[in-house]
Amino acid sequence: QFEKQVDSILKLMTIDEKLGQLNLPSSGDITTGASQSSNVAKNIEDGKVGGLFNIKGVEKIKAVQKIAMEKSRLKIPLLFAMDVIHGYETTFPIPLGLSASWDMDMIEKTARMAAQEATADGINWTFSPMTDISRDPRWGRVSEGSGEDPYLGSKIAEAMVKGYQGQDLTKNNTMLACVKHFALYGASEAGRDYNTVDMSKIRMYNEYFQPYKAAIDAGVATVMASFNEVDGIPATGNKWLLTDLLRDDWGFNGFVVTDYTGINEMIAHGMGNLSQVSALALKAGSDMDMVGEGFLTTLKASLSTGKVTLADIDKAVKRILTAKYEIGLFDDPYKYCNLERPAKEIFTQENRAFARKVGAESMVLLKNENQILPLKRSGTIALIGPLANNAVNMAGTWSVATKQTKSNPLLEGLKTVAGKHVKVLYAKGSNVDYDLEYEERVTMFGKTIDRDKRTDKELLDEALKIASKSDVIVLAIGETAEMSGESSSVTNLQIPQVQKDLLNALLKTGKPVVLTLFTGRPLAITEENENVPAILNVWFPGSEAGLAIADVLFGDVNPSGKITATFPMNVGQVPIFYNHKNTGRPLGNTEGKFEKFKSNYLDVRNEPLYPFGYGLSYTRFTYTNLKLSSTQITPKTSVEVSVDVTNSGDYDGKEVVQLYIRDLVGSVTRPVKELKGFQKIEIKKGETKTVRFTISEEDLKFYNSNLDFVAEPGDFEVFVGTDSATQMKTSFQLVQD
Ligand code: IFM
Repeated sequence: QFEKQVDSILKLMTIDEKLGQLNLPSSGDITTGASQSSNVAKNIEDGKVGGLFNIKGVEKIKAVQKIAMEKSRLKIPLLFAMDVIHGYETTFPIPLGLSASWDMDMIEKTARMAAQEATADGINWTFSPMTDISRDPRWGRVSEGSGEDPYLGSKIAEAMVKGYQGQDLTKNNTMLACVKHFALYGASEAGRDYNTVDMSKIRMYNEYFQPYKAAIDAGVATVMASFNEVDGIPATGNKWLLTDLLRDDWGFNGFVVTDYTGINEMIAHGMGNLSQVSALALKAGSDMDMVGEGFLTTLKASLSTGKVTLADIDKAVKRILTAKYEIGLFDDPYKYCNLERPAKEIFTQENRAFARKVGAESMVLLKNENQILPLKRSGTIALIGPLANNAVNMAGTWSVATKQTKSNPLLEGLKTVAGKHVKVLYAKGSNVDYDLEYEERVTMFGKTIDRDKRTDKELLDEALKIASKSDVIVLAIGETAEMSGESSSVTNLQIPQVQKDLLNALLKTGKPVVLTLFTGRPLAITEENENVPAILNVWFPGSEAGLAIADVLFGDVNPSGKITATFPMNVGQVPIFYNHKNTGRPLGNTEGKFEKFKSNYLDVRNEPLYPFGYGLSYTRFTYTNLKLSSTQITPKTSVEVSVDVTNSGDYDGKEVVQLYIRDLVGSVTRPVKELKGFQKIEIKKGETKTVRFTISEEDLKFYNSNLDFVAEPGDFEVFVGTDSATQMKTSFQLVQD
């Protein structure tokens, strides 16, 4: 659309200015001179910068844009990027938590609101959504994605792209989105961040690619290449991935940005020196170089030696200029720099009220024996735990713009929501963790370890004292924000021992204990599941954490979240996911009994602690009457699946009705179950709703060993229920016309 305009600018550009457009440095506070890279301002003047990220505040951004517009020769406006991942200053739950809501409209709205706030503060490009499928909770970045399922992940990817980019990218409250990390970043070996990925093509296509593709289909403007290798070649320099697949097959026509120093890291991958890897990246289809300056410093020489061509460079420059045109920056470079917007649009009461609602919708009730929850609005509650009064940890990982100290901690939220007939006592109970080596490592990233000066015994004694005066104990334990996220992989999936000790001491008091679990990943809480009567997984709920948790604890909101990543019994089961293959030696029993010469373990059953899609409610849902409109389907006809869902408990509630399919015989092995539909519905107590799904041939397609996307005639089972372990099923056939 903007070809003519882009071409006319291109004609005016020197080679240095062209390479400048491909350069994306990270900024400190460059207008006050505290820049990480001190020559950023000078580089902007010299036309050597295409965009900037990590700069916050509309005034600062306006000042930087002014340098580009007033001091650079060609006056090409800059892009301003940021990791706006789960909200801006108003922060929503971590993405894994958001995904547990299974509420696509709400998720889209969180992205819309994030875009509204970020653009009011001068940002026009977000590095989100992160759509990496992950089946390994050891990987810290499992917290930043939507879990293990490609179908659900695709729906969320689409919702987020729509939310950020809106209907019209030329408006001043929409922004460029960036699907990342392309591709397969979530499949790093042993869950160790940045580690090697090695995967068959058939698995890539059937199990990992769909969410990226869904973002492309939704019109995402940019793509970020991942750090890892894909089929032996780092993604940043992988032509098959970035050009043949992404552009030629999928039709992507935006621009590709590398991840942070992704080009330079190809040197350590063993792909050559900076000049070689920069040329490789450009030729493969990377357009913009994040931070590493490989393009800026080497491509001119590579052009003269013929390692890259002017056409290679021009292609990348055009894509970046086109994006700038698309968002209207050439019409008005200051369109996101209205100094009056922030006060009116960021962290408003209205936005915070929405964050409170979203926080509550993301929570997953994992256990509720004897209906301990919801809490009564009378008596005394002992609120205990290192995360109970801990505002700085409530927003979770990758919340760059959040107002950390303004987040609402549980202690405050509980007191507010409890009302005047409840007495809330508080004690910290323990520190988060005693592993000093660990503490040293995470403090590098931030301020989240706050070590108490009191001894363990003093902390515990105080907790036991208030516990003895209470009717119920609410325990707030788990991980801190930086224990998940980038570079936060672990080999132990348990709650840190010191907190487990606290829990066990409190259980011994005989008082009922409600465990509110803060976590950025599925944890192996097998012991806790055994011993604690009620467990509410709260993830990191965002700015309004305390209020949102209290809303659920008191039953003002009936929990309806369902986990989107399997919780294992122990770390040895990992990777564990619901849509696995059957193997040639599946277990013959469903009770988890060991069988010799079958595919199972001696020491733990195959089933997880909590399966994908699992989550309880304060009410009960009963499924009956599973019906098909026909037992046959053809390429031209579809079948309707219906089921009656009755709220047979005592509260109104929401249920995520899930539909899975099993393809019984295929030309390649097929998963035991695959999610193909879901609906989140509200049902009043005593009410029954009929839920309907349509299945067509399209839903039965998969990539065969030639990587053709086909549906093969034969028998299919269809399962409907409350989670992926459901056994309620019926069957149909796909026949040719
Ligand atoms: O967007 C992120 C990415 O997810 C990890 N590396 C750094 C980028 C920019 O902050």
